[in-house]
Amino acid sequence: MLILGIETSCDETSAAVVEDGHKALSNVVSTQERLHQRFGGVVPEVACRAHIEAILPVIDKSLRDARVRLRDVDAVAVATTPGLIGALLVGMTTAKTLSWPLKVPLIAVNHLHAHILASRLEYGKNLHFPAISFVISGGHTSLFLSRSETDHQTLGATLDDAAGEAFDKVAKLLGLGYPGGPEIDRVSWEGNPAAVSFPRSYLAPGSLDFSFSGLKTAVLYHYRGLLERKGKVDESEIADIAASFQEAVVDVLVNKTLLALKRHNLNRVILGGGVSCNSRLRERFRKALADTRVKLYCPSPLLCTDNAAMVACLGYYKSLKKDISTLEVEAAAQAG
Ligand code: KG4
Ligand code: ZN
Repeated sequence: MLILGIETSCDETSAAVVEDGHKALSNVVSTQERLHQRFGGVVPEVACRAHIEAILPVIDKSLRDARVRLRDVDAVAVATTPGLIGALLVGMTTAKTLSWPLKVPLIAVNHLHAHILASRLEYGKNLHFPAISFVISGGHTSLFLSRSETDHQTLGATLDDAAGEAFDKVAKLLGLGYPGGPEIDRVSWEGNPAAVSFPRSYLAPGSLDFSFSGLKTAVLYHYRGLLERKGKVDESEIADIAASFQEAVVDVLVNKTLLALKRHNLNRVILGGGVSCNSRLRERFRKALADTRVKLYCPSPLLCTDNAAMVACLGYYKSLKKDISTLEVEAAAQAG
């Protein structure tokens, strides 16, 4: 079964062809990073326009890379929620426009759940459920109890900034490039993670929700304090701040995941989303789970960030369950 996946929820225009839910024959990602760079963040209107320009060439390339024709496709899967509404509409309208004349099922999928399924592409039949899944991205920090490929119950989420958003904003404050996550990751190698004691927000005891806005403000005050006292902040201090900030985020992410595992008595963790590319996060998760029975699934960086293969993969499992959409399906900025 060949599924054409389409992903346009934020600033990546992506199309992929996935065979039988686990084999990506193609996975084309056209990133808008350069367009948004000068604004230091994703500008929704700019993103929509860029998706409109890119979507058909990207789909074309995904078919060519996979060496299949449009009429060979058995279903079209598309991320319809959550995301930037205008951006989602571009992918969804394209998916509808293809599925109707092709007379193939249209499958609307949740972008966050698709991030979880990226591990199916990486680990194939070795990925098992139930598991605690953690989607850590620019827009979300969401813990799930995943009972199967298509059954994901939200256990906790961020109350304010997503982890990736915090990385991006702190990087901007420190004068690092965009997107900020990879920059903080890189600069932190030169810094001391214990140099500055930034706050760790755990919220109410036992809570699986997250909050990163206080940490972001603490970094701002620390940075301003240094500037006022010395007139400048040098490179080694920037590296120390970046490493200490990263450590504070990673501490909370790892500890809350351990809590979720314990509470639900599970021994599998699936990571997904752009922030799970972070080298310190990966190292800390590996260390925390090393002497336990818990298996860690953490896909390669290209599958962690937004891509359409993960959308096609989830589409496959939804199609097996006959969870098909009609042409009336709508996009939604927030998942219902
Ligand atoms: O999953 P994703 O590609 O898009 C969303 O659905 O949001 O995640 C993008 C986010 C950005 O905030 C980016 O800064 C962050 O992932 N990111 C990282 C790293 N690579 C990407 N954050 C920390 N360390 C990284 N190495
Ligand atoms: Zn994403």
